[in-house]
Parts: sequence; C-alpha cells; structure tokens
Amino acid sequence: MRRRTTPPRRGWSDIWASSPWVPRWSRYDQYVRTVDQQRTRFGGSEALPRTPTEADPRTVVAQSKIEEDPRLKTMWAGYAFARDFREERGHAYMLDDQTFTERQAVGQPGTCANCHASTVVAWRKLGDGDLVKGFEAMNAMPYMEARQHLEQPVACIDCHEPGSMKLRVTRPAFMEGIAALKASQGIADYDVNRDATRQEMRSFVCGQCHVEYYFEGTEETWNQGIHARSGVACADCHMPYRRMGAQKISDHHVQSPLLNVNAACQTCHNIPEEEIVARVELIQVHTYRMRNQAMDALMDLIGEVAAKRAAGALDSELATALEMQRRAQFYLDFVEAENSTGFHAPQEATRTLGEALGDARQGQLALRDPDFTPRIAPPTRP
Ligand code: HEC
Ligand code: HEC
Ligand code: HEC
Ligand code: HEC
Ligand code: HEC
Repeated sequence: MRRRTTPPRRGWSDIWASSPWVPRWSRYDQYVRTVDQQRTRFGGSEALPRTPTEADPRTVVAQSKIEEDPRLKTMWAGYAFARDFREERGHAYMLDDQTFTERQAVGQPGTCANCHASTVVAWRKLGDGDLVKGFEAMNAMPYMEARQHLEQPVACIDCHEPGSMKLRVTRPAFMEGIAALKASQGIADYDVNRDATRQEMRSFVCGQCHVEYYFEGTEETWNQGIHARSGVACADCHMPYRRMGAQKISDHHVQSPLLNVNAACQTCHNIPEEEIVARVELIQVHTYRMRNQAMDALMDLIGEVAAKRAAGALDSELATALEMQRRAQFYLDFVEAENSTGFHAPQEATRTLGEALGDARQGQLALRDPDFTPRIAPPTRP
C-alpha cells in the first residue's frame, strides 16, 4: 500500500496537495501525488523526517546515498557530491531539493535550473519572448539569481503545447543535442517538435531532463536496452494508461513502475506480478553486485595511490594509475546516474561496470610495475 508522507512545509507541492480545487483523479491530482515516497528494493525513495531550519525548511528528505555507502564519499572527495547526495524522489520535490541541497554551499550555476523547474514562462520573459535567448540569459546567472525567476517544478507547459496539449520538448539543450545526433546519422535540419513521432515524443519529453539516457559519449544507455529497441517509451512504463470510467488517461503520477506493475508491465507481459518483479530484481541484484565489486576495486586503487603519495611519489610517476582511476570513476558515475540499477539496459550496465572493475585493477598493477601498459577498451566514452 502506498504511504502518503507529509510534503515539505513550504512550497507549491504542499499547497497543491491540500487544495480542494484539485479534482480527484484528474491529471493534476495524479501529478501532485509525486509527493508520495515509497521504497522498492533498489529504487523508489524513503521519506525521512528532518527538523526544518531557517536555511532548509524541508520537513522530509530522501535517504542519503553517501551515508548508505561511504565509498561514494571517497570516490567524490573534493567534489560537492561528497557533501550531499540523496536518492532521487518524485517530481514535486525537484525545485526544493535543488534549492536546499548542501551542494549549494559551494555555489552552483544557473544552468542547474534547466531540469529542476518549470522554466518556459521565465525564459520567455527573460528573452523578451524568445525562449532560447531567455535560456541563455538564465544560464549566465548564478543559481540563486536564476532561482528568483522560478516558481514551481516541471509543469504542464514544459511537456505540452498549451492549446492542443500536443507533446513538445521545451529544452533548447535537448533540441540541439538530438539535432546533432540525427545529423551524425545523416538526417539534416532535424526539428524534434516537428519531426519526431508521437511514440518518440513519449520518451523525448522525459529525455529533455533525464539526459543521461541520450547524450553521454557516443553510445546511449537507454537505446542499448531491449525495451528501447522494441520501441517501448518511458511513458509506457512510468506513465501507463489508467482507465477512468470510459476514458483511458496517462497516469501523471510518475514513479517507479515496480509500485504499479499491473498497469506498467502486465499490459504487455502476460506473466504473474511476482514473477515480473522477480525478473527485475534478478537483473538488479546482479548489477548491484557488480557495482560493488567495481567500487571495491576503485577504493583499493585510491588507497594505494594515497599510500604512494604519502611515501613521496610524484603525480607524474603515478600518471597511469591516476588515469585508470579517472576512467573507473567515470564508468561508475555513469551507472550511478542511470538509476534503474541496470534494468533499463542490463548488459550495457554490466559492461560499463566491467570496464570500471578492469580499469581500477589495472591502475593497481601500474602502481606495482612501472612498465605495465594497461589494456583499455576503445575510447568510446572517457
Ligand atoms: C520497460 C519499462 C521501462 C521503461 C520503458 C523505462 N523505465 Fe525507467 N524504470 C523501470 C524500472 C523497472 C525501474 C526500476 C525501479 C525500481 O527499482 O524501483 C526504473 C527506474 C527508473 C528511474 C529511477 C526511479 C526510482 O524510483 O528509483 C528513473 C528516473 C527512470 N526509470 C527514468 C526512465 C526514463 C527517463 C525512461 C525513458 C528514457 C525510462 N525510465 C524508461 C522501467 C522502465
Ligand atoms: C540535464 C538536466 C539536469 C541538470 C542540468 C541538473 N540536474 Fe539535478 N537532477 C536531474 C535528474 C534527472 C535528477 C534525478 C536523478 C538522476 O537522474 O540522477 C536530478 C536529481 C538532483 C537532486 C536530487 C538527488 C541528489 O543528488 O541529492 C539534486 C539535489 C540535484 N539534482 C541538484 C542539481 C544541481 C545542484 C545541479 C547543477 C549543478 C543540477 N541538479 C543540474 C537533472 C538535472
Ligand atoms: C524538467 C525536468 C524533468 C522532466 C521533463 C522529467 N523529469 Fe523526471 N525527474 C526530474 C528530476 C530533477 C527528478 C529528481 C527530483 C528530486 O529528487 O527532487 C526526477 C525524478 C524522476 C523519477 C523518480 C521518482 C521517484 O519517485 O523516485 C522518475 C521515475 C522520473 N523522474 C521519470 C520521468 C519520466 C518518465 C519523465 C517523462 C514523462 C520525466 N521524468 C520527465 C526531472 C525531470
Ligand atoms: C513530464 C512531462 C509531462 C508533464 C509535466 C505533463 N504531462 Fe500530460 N502527458 C505527458 C505524456 C508523455 C502524455 C502521453 C501523451 C501521448 O501518449 O501522446 C501526456 C498526456 C496528457 C494528456 C492526453 C490524454 C492522456 O491522458 O493520455 C493530457 C490531457 C495531459 N497530458 C494533461 C496534462 C496536464 C493538465 C498536465 C499538468 C498538470 C500535464 N499533462 C503534465 C507528459 C507530461
Ligand atoms: C509496451 C510493451 C511493454 C511494456 C509496457 C513492458 N515491456 Fe518488457 N518487454 C517488451 C518487449 C517487446 C520485450 C522484448 C521481448 C522480445 O523481443 O522477446 C520485453 C522484454 C522484457 C524483459 C526481458 C529483458 C531482456 O533483456 O531480455 C523483461 C525482464 C521485461 N520486459 C520486463 C518488463 C517490466 C518489469 C515492465 C514494467 C516495468 C515491462 N517489461 C514493460 C515490451 C514491454
């Protein structure tokens, strides 16, 4: 059963959730339910009560990943992520979580706001009607200045054309990125809002913020998976149709599909719910195990590098090991950011973690033998 938790004391989600004007079962109502927090074995999120302060009025936060796994602190030593990194949660929280993360202590740029707020109106205003100009103006601001122009998390107009309710992409970075990708495939002058199919748009509206699925290096994680290759869209699993009387509407309560297996999976898979969940968890357990192996290898390498430095070694002597550390870290980061613990593209996740494991162990070999030359995969990513 879904547990409803207290939404943040200040903020729009609180106001919406309690509003008597929000009709039950409307898309607004589903949408405001993204304040719900429930954990799955590897996903979802946990609602942890916290004592609000002047600086951070949130009364509930998601669990801390760096407290859960202190190896992440070692991996990110010196980066803002080592201060605060939590499990992601529902869309209703995106603006508050970004505003109040301790990562703000080191100062953040206005570009952060691109994926954490409803930006369309603000961009139009800042750009005197020109979305792209406004986007550029906000990018040039420090975060806290950009924040003054923003009021709420992602809203209807960020994904829909107001008049027709047609799906649309509103993020210039995604429009340019996907056009460049298409150009590299020989398709010139690609305009995502004009040329994409409806089924593609059911993924692209998500991909405009969840970009790690599209633009990291030359490969793309999501497209490596069997579902993407079969034409299944993000919305098929994360916004499945629900029947409301005679109507079928898309569930705007975007969440872990494992909290909604019947609507999210059983429309295509005629398999009992427990078996579907078991199959997902089998993939996730394997991915997680491999991730831990790679993380341990990276910790061993970081420890040995530190010992060498303490013994007086110069970074120039450690160059190969440091390069291997950088590579292993990149691959691990990549899987960490991917979020489904391998489900979206199981073999791709395992391959990436295999690279991380191999690179970290080769870094150790390089510390022991100055003549060691690492065998690295073709440089498709780092
Ligand atoms: C075939 C179904 C399916 C499709 C299609 C799909 N996902 Fe997922 N997604 C899942 C499952 C299953 C999980 C794991 C949830 C869990 O562990 O609780 C997940 C996890 C996630 C998470 C983390 C959620 C959490 O609760 O931790 C995000 C974010 C996400 N997906 C975004 C996307 C985006 C963006 C797309 C499209 C590019 C997409 N997904 C396509 C099934 C799908
Ligand atoms: C390209 C889109 C994009 C940009 C730009 C972006 N984020 Fe995010 N952010 C996301 C997505 C998507 C999630 C959900 C989790 C995930 O996919 O990693 C997220 C999650 C988060 C979270 C919640 C989880 C956590 O890490 O504790 C915080 C806080 C956050 N981002 C802060 C920031 C800050 C600060 C910046 C600027 C440095 C930033 N974001 C820039 C898309 C973005
Ligand atoms: C405006 C940018 C934006 C768009 C558009 C967007 N997301 Fe997100 N999404 C985020 C951010 C940021 C978070 C993390 C919020 C936090 O942790 O506070 C997030 C969180 C999530 C989660 C985690 C929810 C949970 O309960 O753990 C899922 C699943 C997800 N998004 C899927 C999708 C899907 C599917 C779409 C497209 C239908 C989509 N998102 C569109 C920015 C976006
Ligand atoms: C993160 C992106 C996103 C946001 C934000 C969003 N929607 Fe949607 N919406 C979708 C997707 C994806 C579909 C499925 C469209 C399709 O299949 O063509 C959809 C479908 C719809 C439809 C068509 C009928 C249906 O249910 O399939 C309506 C109406 C709609 N949304 C209203 C809204 C309203 C009102 C809001 C604001 C409360 C909103 N949407 C916010 C992504 C979004
Ligand atoms: C729109 C249809 C559709 C939906 C919705 C869907 N799937 Fe699938 N799924 C497919 C197709 C198509 C395949 C590939 C089967 C094939 O080609 O034999 C597949 C394959 C799989 C596989 C095998 C993966 C592999 O790598 O071989 C698993 C596991 C799976 N789906 C789980 C899920 C789960 C869990 C959900 C819900 C979160 C889900 N699916 C939702 C269509 C769907």
